[in-house]
Amino acid sequence: MSRTPPPVPAEHLPALLAALPKAELHIHIEGSLEPEMSFALARRNGITLPYADVESLRRAYAFGSLQAFLDLYYQGAGVLLKEEDFYDLARAYLARAATENVVRAEIFFDPQTHTARGVALDTVMRGLTRACDDARRDLGISSALILCFLRHLSEREAFETLEAALPWRDAFIGVGLDSSELGHPPEKFARVFARCRELGLHIVAHAGEEGPPAYIWGALDVLRAERIDHGVQAVHDAALMQRLAQERIPLTVCPLSNQKLQVFPDLARHSLPRLLAGGLCATVNSDDPAYFGGYVNANFQAVFAATGLDSAAAYQLAANSFEASFADAALKQQWLDKLQAAFERAHDAGS
Ligand code: HPA
Ligand code: ZN
Repeated sequence: MSRTPPPVPAEHLPALLAALPKAELHIHIEGSLEPEMSFALARRNGITLPYADVESLRRAYAFGSLQAFLDLYYQGAGVLLKEEDFYDLARAYLARAATENVVRAEIFFDPQTHTARGVALDTVMRGLTRACDDARRDLGISSALILCFLRHLSEREAFETLEAALPWRDAFIGVGLDSSELGHPPEKFARVFARCRELGLHIVAHAGEEGPPAYIWGALDVLRAERIDHGVQAVHDAALMQRLAQERIPLTVCPLSNQKLQVFPDLARHSLPRLLAGGLCATVNSDDPAYFGGYVNANFQAVFAATGLDSAAAYQLAANSFEASFADAALKQQWLDKLQAAFERAHDAGS
């Protein structure tokens, strides 16, 4: 049941955004690898990084495009070798997310980035699933894994990855499509995703980040994506906007990622207010927080400050994140109740 949230004055908005219970639905676990952890894992695994220290690695995080980011991101993942490394990575993300009032995280992982380096899929899965289980028990945070295929690789390699992951079928809830978008349209993976649908997996796909609205149409019509990751280019296609709104297809928007990769000339021109005004089920997420300058709350704070979104938008975005999640209905209702309570507290504090 949706209730009208009590208004919260603008000066209380930053505190409200931090306190909002929320679901994070677009987070690449490899993108939560902080420079400090890169150095710690490199030391533990006897690897020498091509950077003198944490500061020089962080300074290298200046990207003009998705591809420039991806080159560093794949290189960065080279320190992840053992089950414990994947555990520590996911555990650190979940601990951080819990402090930001994330009650549910649906976490992407890129098996091909690891198997290509000789790391067994079992190693990846054991570390990630154990971190999710422990965080549920110790921190009360609900989480699930989504296996992503790298779209710059071939259909055959995606099929091989799917096949290798079948023994772990119950450890992930869905599949996604990420990596270099331009030149790799959704159609390239039509048959892989058809097989994933037969397996009962949820389907999501990155589309309309740097790529055109046609890639969003392709993700919907060919892959049958239930959610679109990014999707911010939809504003250039009125018919698409209408369809996304009518079918309540969620978009997992990542403002600081878009800013860092120069998807928009500046954050004030971000399409999020237009997506919300068009009635779309947009959500706010961090994408690759270690690389893009902030976790989910920093994304909320930055995009609200830059675009002037108000407390009604905050409520809508948090409610959208629960609607868009693949969690069961009872959990979603509990989170909506929490959201209402957070608003009432913020309203009372401001009145
Ligand atoms: N887009 C595509 N691939 C990715 C991203 C992204 O934002 N982050 C990690 N892999
Ligand atoms: Zn992404």
